[in-house]
Amino acid sequence: MTTRPRVHTTRKLPAVVETRMMELFTTRLTSRDEPVDRRGLLEMATGADILVPTLTDRLDAEFFESAPRTLRLIANFGNGVDHIDLAAAARKGIMVTNTPGVLTDDTADMTMALILATVRRLSEGERVMRSGAWAGWSPTGMLGRRLSGLRLGIIGLGRIGRAVAARARAFGMTVHYHNRARVDEQTERDLEATYWADLDQMLAHMDVVSVNCPQTPATYHLLSAQRLALMKTDAVLVNTARGEIVDEAALTEMLLAGRLAGAGLDVFAAEPHLDDRLRGLESVVLLPHMGSATIESRIEMGQRVILNIRSFWDGHSPPDRVIGQAL
Ligand code: DGY
Repeated sequence: MTTRPRVHTTRKLPAVVETRMMELFTTRLTSRDEPVDRRGLLEMATGADILVPTLTDRLDAEFFESAPRTLRLIANFGNGVDHIDLAAAARKGIMVTNTPGVLTDDTADMTMALILATVRRLSEGERVMRSGAWAGWSPTGMLGRRLSGLRLGIIGLGRIGRAVAARARAFGMTVHYHNRARVDEQTERDLEATYWADLDQMLAHMDVVSVNCPQTPATYHLLSAQRLALMKTDAVLVNTARGEIVDEAALTEMLLAGRLAGAGLDVFAAEPHLDDRLRGLESVVLLPHMGSATIESRIEMGQRVILNIRSFWDGHSPPDRVIGQAL
């Protein structure tokens, strides 16, 4: 293909990324920085060879049915592709790419931050200070748990799960994991990780559980009410993956009933909304889906998008082609 691809973005991207896209492609940028509905997305896709959406854009079967015939590639700005109906895209002959690898460390850092914040009651302490309610040091005040020695159960030992495991080891935590498939022996040895084929069994034995798997039909409500009920009452749950993997209402009920010690949540089932009852819970640390929110991550995500577009347009298979989701 000789002409420059017509590339349309759906959200404001880092300036350096937008500038490079302008240099390389016939790019139509948007100054909008809010989620777009299906009609808006279809308008944005009109006349495009390539659309660059992100995780707040729902590209469902109806979108693909009405998508303009020019559209050939969805170069997603982001790792997760659960907002894209991959089967519908494939039916229309539209390829999908994502941006794996470049947000691993930042998301793992944020997972560790949430583990620390939850186990050591960081947000609660901060709230005490801001409210002016602190009466001074007390031998029994603000007691949390010592991280070193706690057992961490990672659900999904992929790139991010492994990066979380490495960090947790440095904090003296013991690493356990559940995965679709057991990882290789060397990785297990390096991380001193214990494999649990049975998720239910692992949940019942962990002090901290971290969700690090992608959201797919198979992982939707993987942590159901029944599974959450298996966790120890003094355990905490941390989720930096996708809200839909956890039954949020059931989790909230459990926290309200004191049947779980705490939760650190960066993601929610219906973002930007969340179960309102979570806001009032001292034992919960809430973040606005900011696991990968570093300028470095966002620029590298843009670089992956550009790389995928260039190789697709040059007639090669893009490096981050999404074939079908890993379950
Ligand atoms: C992604 O890219 O899927 C991440 O959730 C963004 O933080």
